[in-house]
Amino acid sequence: MGIHYDLTNQIFHLQSKNTSYIFQLFESKYLKHLYWGKKLRHYAGSGKLQIVKRTFTSNPEQGKDYSLDTLPQEYPCYGTSDFRNPAYQIQLENGSTITDLRYYSHRIFSGKKKLEGLPATYIENENEATTLEIDLIDSLIGLKVILTYCVYERQNVITRSVRFQNEGKQKLCILRALSMNVDFQDDNYDLIHLPGAWARERDIVRYPIKLGAQLIESRRGASSHQQNPFIALSRKETNEDHGDVYGFSFVYSGNFLAQVEVDQFRTTRVSMGINPFDFTWKLHPNEAFQCPEVVMVYSSEGIGDMSRTYHSLYRKRLARGYHRDKERPILINNWEATYFKFNEDKLLDIAKAAKNVGIELFVLDDGWFGKRDNAKTSLGDWYVHKKKLPNGLDGLAKRIHGIGMKFGLWFEPEMISVKSELYLKHPDWCLHVPNRNRTEGRNQLVLDLSRKDVCDEIISMVSNILANAPIDYVKWDMNRHMTEIGSAKLPPECQRETAHRYMLGLYGILEEITTKFPRVLFESCSGGGGRFDPGMLYYMPQTWTSDNTDAISRLKIQYGTSIVYPAISIGSHVSAVPNHQVHRTTSLELRGHVAQSGNLGYELDLTKLSTAEMEKVKAQIKFYKEIRFLIQFGSFHRILSPFEGNETAWMFVSENQSEAIVFYYRILAEPNSPLKKILLKGLNPKKEYQITGALNSYGGDELMYSGVAVPSNLRGDFQSFIWRFREI
Ligand code: DGJ
Repeated sequence: MGIHYDLTNQIFHLQSKNTSYIFQLFESKYLKHLYWGKKLRHYAGSGKLQIVKRTFTSNPEQGKDYSLDTLPQEYPCYGTSDFRNPAYQIQLENGSTITDLRYYSHRIFSGKKKLEGLPATYIENENEATTLEIDLIDSLIGLKVILTYCVYERQNVITRSVRFQNEGKQKLCILRALSMNVDFQDDNYDLIHLPGAWARERDIVRYPIKLGAQLIESRRGASSHQQNPFIALSRKETNEDHGDVYGFSFVYSGNFLAQVEVDQFRTTRVSMGINPFDFTWKLHPNEAFQCPEVVMVYSSEGIGDMSRTYHSLYRKRLARGYHRDKERPILINNWEATYFKFNEDKLLDIAKAAKNVGIELFVLDDGWFGKRDNAKTSLGDWYVHKKKLPNGLDGLAKRIHGIGMKFGLWFEPEMISVKSELYLKHPDWCLHVPNRNRTEGRNQLVLDLSRKDVCDEIISMVSNILANAPIDYVKWDMNRHMTEIGSAKLPPECQRETAHRYMLGLYGILEEITTKFPRVLFESCSGGGGRFDPGMLYYMPQTWTSDNTDAISRLKIQYGTSIVYPAISIGSHVSAVPNHQVHRTTSLELRGHVAQSGNLGYELDLTKLSTAEMEKVKAQIKFYKEIRFLIQFGSFHRILSPFEGNETAWMFVSENQSEAIVFYYRILAEPNSPLKKILLKGLNPKKEYQITGALNSYGGDELMYSGVAVPSNLRGDFQSFIWRFREI
């Protein structure tokens, strides 16, 4: 059992592989946070903060000196003496926003429950996790709040979520319902998060936290390019390989809030959940509201170890389905090859060229439906563009299958073009508010997925296409953020539920479609990596990482993405030069080495390559097939960061440490630069390894502690080099 309850001292001790998380029932009412960090055998209270009377704090209980304002808590409320940001807030029928939740009971059991209607990490066997559910009750209004903690015992993972149940008689209105809160006892931390922009997703940003509140959030209706639903607190001295780090990853794809608040006494409150901005939820008697899950990972061994914990959990216990444990096909996508300008013969020419070099899957991107010759029209009209594809999807898919390749198709089902038959028929099916302009993004509006009729239509449209043509793969795109977030179907008092209802609608659609078509491989996309989040990964085991396919830009994008997400989920393609996004020219070799560090694909017109280039592509693919398992299922180690210098290096090690591959990249050439060595990671110090093609062998200890020399003969900008090791 990973969770122990000490009845005498009313202490809950959650223990995973190397972690303890401890809190206590305080005054038999409140949950007081005590400790989160390296595993303790037992807890006797040595470091417990004392309760001291502080001026200008208020005391919820007469005659007692404690104040909630100074109590480290598990799920803090508003208005009864804690002046920091609360984890939740509820409005009563009388207009007041004060609640008083108190401990009522708890249960500890093996296993992990599903979260109704929401993506979440899961187990395959009851003994993988232990769950603690704590009931808190506000008896005045009959509100029950269930805090759920799950401990993955063999990993350093604790998940948290919260459920609100209205067991009273009045209508409640939820104003804020975050999924977790941790009160740390000091403020000696850095905040790490992953901001970005379109084509520049997931930069790594790190700075010391400061007095006051720091918010990382999305208000865009999607987790977004601009922020990722992830933050970490680390000690100042923490680096890739050493030191304490606390990760928080939110399994949700919509508006989120991650908040770090340092208070007057230099304690630090971290909370995360659905963004309360423009959010309310009516909770009628007998109704419940389920908050999504936060996955919390602690490591005392640095950021790299935290990342590997997320990688392993998200690869094995978040991603699901037939393809979860399968090597992913190498694909060719026609987007950057043709954009909207193609016909069946052109596609087939590209596919044949791809087949010749060993590519396994052909993906037809945007432009195959309605009158879609540019981005101005036809989203919603999901019937084939007969001028381009006279034999229909079925005809094309069969021809692609005929040459021995799988066939994949792009969709953007959540959107509607104003210029579409669907919009003429159903102008109220998009998100909008009465009498206001409908702001367009990429000439399109967002369908109102809070409506059941709209969701049903999307399910039937996608199902119809998948059932009537042999389609092996789907790229599910989403190319704008939400404005005028309102629904024609919801009453005025529920309008602020629209954004979250949209997410529930989307998750419902994805659940149904992925269940109906279990053999189809789904890749999510939102203008590249605008929805690269754990919520989408639950339904779709890979994501198009960024619309930026430039190999040099990709070093940062893929490095930043790897903080949370496993390489198998990171779609990475070789594209043409000069690159279409940044107009940089790099060698085919470098482009290959960057794309091979993720889930490999190609995105260019192969028919335009020279014979020599095609030979190189063929060799890249042959090589990737040899290392694919290692890349997609090995452990990932970051060595040199593109955010810190001119070089990048990372490596993959097989689970049994018998194989490894190291990728090194140098951006700009430097005259007379120092000779460099890089220290490898993750090898077995006791094993002997041989570099492929070389005779000498080296101990794992030597490779990790003494390192390998970077070749001194790299010439010019944008160079890369790989070493492949095998145990002998
Ligand atoms: C945005 C995607 O990220 C691209 O790869 C491509 O599919 C376009 N949309 C098509 O409109």
